[in-house]
Amino acid sequence: MMLPRAVAVILAPVVLAASDSLRSELTIPGVTSYFPGEPGYANASRPFNLRFKLTPDAVVYPSTVKELSEVVKVGFENNLRVTARSGGHSYIANALEGQIVIDVSNFKNISVDPVAKTAVIGSGNRLGDIALALNDYGLAMPHGTCPYVGIGGHSSYGGFGFDSRMWGLTLDNVLAIDLVLANGTVATASETQNPDLFWAMRGAGPSFAITTAIKFKLYTPPQTVIIFSYNWQLTASGAADALGKFQAFVEESNLPAVFGSEIVLTRGNVEGNVTFALSGAWQGNPNLLNGTVKPYLDAMPPLHAESFFTGNWIESLENLGGGSLNTSAAPDDTDTFYAKSLMSPALETASREAFFNVVATEGFTTNISWFFQIELYGGPNSAINAVPLDATAFAHRSSLFTTQFYASSTVPPYPKSGFTFLDNVVNSITTHAPPDWEYGAYTNYMEDKLPNCKLSTGLQTLVIKFPSSRTTILRIALLAFAGAQEAIRPARDIRLSGWN
Ligand SMILES: Cc1cc2nc3c(=O)[nH]c(=O)nc-3n(C[C@H](O)[C@H](O)[C@H](O)COP(=O)(O)OP(=O)(O)OC[C@H]3O[C@@H](n4cnc5c(N)ncnc54)[C@H](O)[C@@H]3O)c2cc1C
Ligand SMILES: *[C@@H]1O[C@H](CO)[C@@H](O)[C@H](O)[C@H]1NC(C)=O
Ligand SMILES: *[C@@H]1O[C@H](CO)[C@@H](O)[C@H](O)[C@H]1NC(C)=O
Ligand SMILES: *[C@@H]1O[C@H](CO)[C@@H](O)[C@H](O)[C@H]1NC(C)=O
Ligand SMILES: *[C@@H]1O[C@H](CO)[C@@H](O)[C@H](O)[C@H]1NC(C)=O
Ligand SMILES: *[C@@H]1O[C@H](CO)[C@@H](O)[C@H](O)[C@H]1NC(C)=O
Ligand SMILES: *[C@@H]1O[C@H](CO)[C@@H](O)[C@H](O)[C@H]1NC(C)=O
Ligand SMILES: *[C@@H]1O[C@H](CO)[C@@H](O)[C@H](O)[C@H]1NC(C)=O
Repeated sequence: MMLPRAVAVILAPVVLAASDSLRSELTIPGVTSYFPGEPGYANASRPFNLRFKLTPDAVVYPSTVKELSEVVKVGFENNLRVTARSGGHSYIANALEGQIVIDVSNFKNISVDPVAKTAVIGSGNRLGDIALALNDYGLAMPHGTCPYVGIGGHSSYGGFGFDSRMWGLTLDNVLAIDLVLANGTVATASETQNPDLFWAMRGAGPSFAITTAIKFKLYTPPQTVIIFSYNWQLTASGAADALGKFQAFVEESNLPAVFGSEIVLTRGNVEGNVTFALSGAWQGNPNLLNGTVKPYLDAMPPLHAESFFTGNWIESLENLGGGSLNTSAAPDDTDTFYAKSLMSPALETASREAFFNVVATEGFTTNISWFFQIELYGGPNSAINAVPLDATAFAHRSSLFTTQFYASSTVPPYPKSGFTFLDNVVNSITTHAPPDWEYGAYTNYMEDKLPNCKLSTGLQTLVIKFPSSRTTILRIALLAFAGAQEAIRPARDIRLSGWN
């Protein structure tokens, strides 16, 4: 959908200087705030991705919904851009783009209803702590593998784990959201309360409201999980063939939903080769994994290595998370990186060959460290694909793969060669794809170089100033994820019947 230029102009943030009056307005009993130059400010404004350095006018830590609403009102009345931060793991540090940053880490309540199999989770919780709390009740929900990722961003923009083919994305399991609108109004969104807002929150949430608590649907997890990895050393053309065979395996089998997987690509042993792995989690009867993957292994060259970890549910999450799930036990990490993503159908031969040629040559000579993950969203029995495209504001869920391209220098400065390498890699795929190949980007792997990306940042007061019609909300939602989704190419699958 094309938007009138005027709308985009209205959405541009108004930049005002930090002032003493802001400091005094944010002096709210019980609320901790950090301002530039103060002790604690550097820590409070440090992003996960050190490629970015942002200097918000204030980083504020409310503890109650009322306090959070008061802080939002200060922003609203002064026409300042307000953003929320949950786990702070945004790829582009956009939680820190606000002039007022509201850190929700004090919103840590988790209450589980084991009979209804639901949980109300404070938006300041991180995935590892959530998994531990639910596991106390023998319950679980789908989400990504990194324990330190916050539920605030994760559930707004997607949320993929190896359990997502069984249970959907994290946002597919949101039942209701307690939130604060851009004018400070406290509200709830669900299928029955503010349903348009509920639609927009699931896919474009950060542009509409700050979530304080989210009610999720829960599941009884499998008792035993096998984390598997099958590894090969392949030439570029061998790898192009191996990905083609994987696509055929997925399309031709009746792959059960309990098979969660991705193809992981890393630097090859020699120039011209690629390290190629099929990794994932088997969440079904442990005796049935070997038979399930056999058709693929039979079609492939001999394995270079394989590894298996078998454990109960929570042990499998610890294994995938690389250690403890308790994020209070050890401090969070940082990285310095550039990442891109593609949500797409299968890659045709020309794309696969061009892609693996770059991966096996530039991917070997570059001094940046990188990995690519071709995550299986679709295939038979996928709960992600089963949700109708227009059910939420999250686009491209009908895709077969979401591929993440990640290149890190660990610490700043980030070299120009890192950008060039990743751009070349992704271009090798898209420029060799057929003209009707539908692709977009994944909002949880937000990319700053996409045009309009910044439109997804900050609460849009427009929602309140304009009549809150479905059309307006749809427009804002489209704009909100324009950066990550439409900018690459119009997301044609976002059309909604009857909606303008
Ligand atoms: C190491 C690592 C591993 C990852 N693994 C996975 C994975 O396995 N699967 C996957 O799907 N993704 C994964 N991701 C991506 C991750 O899902 C996103 O980066 C996610 O948006 C981070 O959420 P956050 O709350 O930690 O981020 P933040 O930086 O706090 O927030 C991200 C965005 O959400 C907004 N936001 C935060 N809290 C709120 C709130 N309460 N209300 C409204 N808006 C809010 C922010 O303003 C910002 O726009 C990973 C990221 C990292 C860094
Ligand atoms: C630094 O900031 C992070 C994120 O807000 C917080 O969790 C941590 O407690 C802070 N550390 C210190 C020493 O203040
Ligand atoms: C968290 O739970 C406690 C105890 O039930 C309650 O007093 C408090 O208000 C809750 N906090 C939030 C932010 O909901
Ligand atoms: C490169 O890959 C080819 C094809 O699999 C393999 O024969 C060769 O041994 C690999 N080279 C190294 C150094 O592993
Ligand atoms: C499955 O195959 C692996 C080797 O690939 C083997 O170690 C394991 O014992 C097999 N499991 C079953 C249940 O046969
Ligand atoms: C997490 O670690 C902290 C600090 O070590 C500890 O106090 C807390 O009890 C742990 N929580 C869980 C759920 O194990
Ligand atoms: C990495 O390579 C780039 C050019 O490709 C070069 O500018 C840079 O200095 C190299 N960095 C290191 C640490 O070798
Ligand atoms: C805040 O915005 C909501 C949604 O548009 C509106 O219903 C409400 O009246 C506004 N509140 C105030 C105080 O302006």
